[in-house]
Amino acid sequence: MAAIMASITSELLFFLPFILLALLTFYTSAVAKCHGLHRWSGRTKKRRPNLPPGAVGWPFIGETFGYLRAHPATSIGQFMDQHIARYGKIYRSSLFGDRTVVSADAGLNRYVLQNEGRLFECSYPRSIGGILGKWSMLVLVGDPHRHTLLVLRDWLPSSSSAVFSAQHEAKKFTFNLMAKNIMSMDPGEEETERLRLEYITFMKGVVSAPLNFPGTAYWKALKSRATILGVIERKMEERLEKMNKEASSMEEDDLLGWAMKQSNLSKEQILDLLLSLLFAGHETSSMALALAIFFLEGCPKAVEELREEHLEIARRQKLRGECKLSWEDYKEMVFTQCVINETLRLGNVVRFLHRKVIRDVHYNGYDIPSGWKILPVLAAVHLDSSLYEDPSSFNPWRWQVGA
Ligand code: HEM
Repeated sequence: MAAIMASITSELLFFLPFILLALLTFYTSAVAKCHGLHRWSGRTKKRRPNLPPGAVGWPFIGETFGYLRAHPATSIGQFMDQHIARYGKIYRSSLFGDRTVVSADAGLNRYVLQNEGRLFECSYPRSIGGILGKWSMLVLVGDPHRHTLLVLRDWLPSSSSAVFSAQHEAKKFTFNLMAKNIMSMDPGEEETERLRLEYITFMKGVVSAPLNFPGTAYWKALKSRATILGVIERKMEERLEKMNKEASSMEEDDLLGWAMKQSNLSKEQILDLLLSLLFAGHETSSMALALAIFFLEGCPKAVEELREEHLEIARRQKLRGECKLSWEDYKEMVFTQCVINETLRLGNVVRFLHRKVIRDVHYNGYDIPSGWKILPVLAAVHLDSSLYEDPSSFNPWRWQVGA
C-alpha cells in the first residue's frame, strides 16, 4: 500500500510542474484578455485598446464578492470608494464572470442609457433569466422587448382602495396593490396571502447565488416560481372558462385581462410578464416607501411641508365637491415630488444596471470593446459631491425649481 502511495506521489510530483504551467498559461491568458492585451477589435485593428485602468482580481470570480459586499444604501461602499480613488470614475474589473467596465461617471451613464439598442443592450446575469423567466423584461432585448413594452404602455391600472398603514407594512401593501392591479386578487384573501408568502421565498432566490440543488435559496425559489406561475395559470383558465360559459367578455379590469384580450402574447409570455412585473413593481416601490418614511422621520420640517401641501389639496377638493384624487391634484403636489426625487436619489433603490457592449465604444479617450459588460452605477452619481451639495443629507428642497 505504502509503495503504491509512494509511486502515486512521485508521479504527481512529476506532473506537478506541467499542471502548474498549464494553470499559469490559462490564468495569464485570462488576465491578458481582461487587461485588453488582445487586439482591439475596432476600426483601428493594429492598435491596442486604451482600456480604463483597473484590476481583474481572482481567477473566475474576479472582484465580484468585493463589489457586492453589503453597505448602507446611502453610501457607495468601501469597494467603490477605493476603486474610484485609485482608478477614477471609470474603471475596469472582472465581475459576474465577465470583463466589465464600471462607471460612476454621470456622462458615461447617460451615454449608455441614451444608446440602448445601438451600442449597448440589457444583459442581466443568466441566473436572473432562470428565475424570472426567459420572457422577463429584464432578459428580453431588441424587438421582443419593445413588443412586450407596448402591451404595458396601453395598460392603465385601475385605482385601488388599499390603505397604507405603517412602515413595516410597506412590503405587504405594495404586494397587495400589485396583486390587485395585475390579477384582481383582493388583499387579505387566503389565496393572496399564500401567494405573498410564496413570493417572499421566490424573492430570496432572486438575490441569492444561483446554486440549484436541494435546500439552497435558489432551488427553493425555482419551486416557488413554479407555484406562483401555477396560480397565475389557474386564474387564466378560470377566466377563459367563465368567458366560454357565459359568452361574455372579460370583466376584470387588470393586467392579466388586458394581456389576454389585447395582446397576441403566448401563455408562457403572459406568465413571465406578470411574474417579472410583480418583481419589478413590488421590490422597488416597497423599498422606496420604507425609505421615504425612514428619511422623513429625521426631517420634521419636510413632514410639515408635505402635510400643508396635502391639506391644501384636500381643502380645494372639498370645495369642488370631489373626493378622489385627480391627475391635476397629483400635478400640484410639487413638494411631494421633491420628496420622491430625494428619496430615490439618497435611497438608491436600484444601485446599478447591467449592460453589454454590442459595438466597440470610444468614450473620453477610453476604448470599451464589444462583448464587454458595462455597469452604470446610478448610486455613485446620486452621491457624487461634485453634482449634489452635501450628498449624504436628505434635502428635498434641492429639487425645487431655482434651488
Ligand atoms: C420606486 C419605484 C421604482 C424604481 C426605483 C424602478 C426602477 C427601475 C429601473 C432602474 C429600471 C431600469 C432597469 C434596466 O434598464 O436595467 C426599471 C425598469 C422597469 N420597471 Fe421599474 N422601478 C420602479 C417601479 C416600478 C413599477 C411600480 C413597475 C410596474 C408596475 C415597474 C416596472 C418596470 C418595467 C416593466 C421595467 C422594464 C422597462 C424596460 O426595460 O423598458 N417599475 N425600473
